Amino acid sequence: MSIDRARLRGRLAEEERRFASCHPRSRELYDRARRSLLGGVPMHWMTRWAGGFPVFAERAEGAYLTDVDGHRYLDLCLGDTGAMTGHAAPPTVAAVEAQARRGFTFMLPTEDAVWVGEELARRFGLPYWQFAVTATDANRFAIRLARHITGRPFVLVFNWCYHGTVDECFATLRGGRTVARAGNIGPPVDPAVTTKVVEFNDAAALEKALLPGDVACVLAEPAMTNVGIVLPAPGFHQTLRELTRRTGTLLIIDETHTISAGPGGYTRAHGLTPDMLTLGKAVAGGVPGAVYGFSESVAGRIAAATEADVIDTGGVGGTLAASPLTTTAMRATLEGVLTEENFRRTIPLAERFAAGVAAAIAEHSLPWTVQRLGCRAEYWFRSTPPLNGAEAAAAVDSELERYMHLAALNRGILLTPFHNMALIAPTVTEGDVDRHTEVFRENVAAL
Ligand SMILES: Cc1ncc(COP(=O)(O)O)c(C=O)c1O
Repeated sequence: MSIDRARLRGRLAEEERRFASCHPRSRELYDRARRSLLGGVPMHWMTRWAGGFPVFAERAEGAYLTDVDGHRYLDLCLGDTGAMTGHAAPPTVAAVEAQARRGFTFMLPTEDAVWVGEELARRFGLPYWQFAVTATDANRFAIRLARHITGRPFVLVFNWCYHGTVDECFATLRGGRTVARAGNIGPPVDPAVTTKVVEFNDAAALEKALLPGDVACVLAEPAMTNVGIVLPAPGFHQTLRELTRRTGTLLIIDETHTISAGPGGYTRAHGLTPDMLTLGKAVAGGVPGAVYGFSESVAGRIAAATEADVIDTGGVGGTLAASPLTTTAMRATLEGVLTEENFRRTIPLAERFAAGVAAAIAEHSLPWTVQRLGCRAEYWFRSTPPLNGAEAAAAVDSELERYMHLAALNRGILLTPFHNMALIAPTVTEGDVDRHTEVFRENVAAL
């Protein structure tokens, strides 16, 4: 069944009126914020929330968030993965509270950093680690190091990827050529100078791009998560690994979102063997912090190519990286929250979420699909799962997305503002998941 656009617009207008009338305090704060914050928000993407102005948050615990108007939401956005552990996870809170009285930042290592390095090596199979403040930084530093040790100019990414605000990644394919992605703000150079873009799951294009031997690294999510969920085709990862090895290209796997697949991310769950791995957001339970790891061989090449006397001016840095506040939060989160036991709870709940959404889609014969990756699920407005970023991007329907988000929000459920993604925190219950299914069914039926 196709969507009646006039009806959709009518419903959306109704939801917008409902949102405005139910959020007077958020509206007041937004009006005040417009006098001191650019666009009325502290971070520009907060304007992307459906409703015309963002909900102002008051507090959050576990899977629930309360706004300044007193509404309580089931939070499936979870800070777009930063709070995948659930908000204010008790082990992380206890560690941060204790560390807060012992100092926030030293420029010196702590024992927690060693524990975290050892634990990451155990989980991901890469022996050496470094810390950064954000996943963006971890990716930027991994790319820099890859260029440094290979002496090659290009980075290869998959079409419609997102790896944070990394210059090399704001590129897309147009007519087979690498061009700046729409919205690219002040690119330092034409992205075609730095980047090759190929479609995910396109082994032939990948081979053609890598064969000249001028690509320092492939930076990839093991399954795409930022343009809906695009899963790798059978054999794609073997091909990717084989081609990168054969052409001397380093393989960097970004697990920032795909950590949803389990305690060792997609890498461990599927036996991948990257040369480098990056991870941010949830790794410190939402406290800013990220990590990047290296194989024995990459670590050796970095050591051989780096001069200790000028190590602080090489473009890999961050004064607040590896602060004791971050490292203690990481240790507590890895030890007590991102655990096998919690994933054994959240993955079946995400399966329940996907099954509920799939049933509602089938009931209404909608040409939509739902995909899942561990404790992350996402519905998409096309009838079959996309094979690559271009297919996924072609199915974006901003108006429909806005309606689905706002209608969910007005009924007490938060989804990420950028796409139709839901994450399951360890404190979510079956009842919570079923409530989402009910709300989803009701909102679809209203169309
Ligand atoms: C896969 C992936 N990598 C890296 C990042 C960047 O994270 P941050 O904005 O915390 O630097 C994101 C952000 O959405 C992401 O989805």
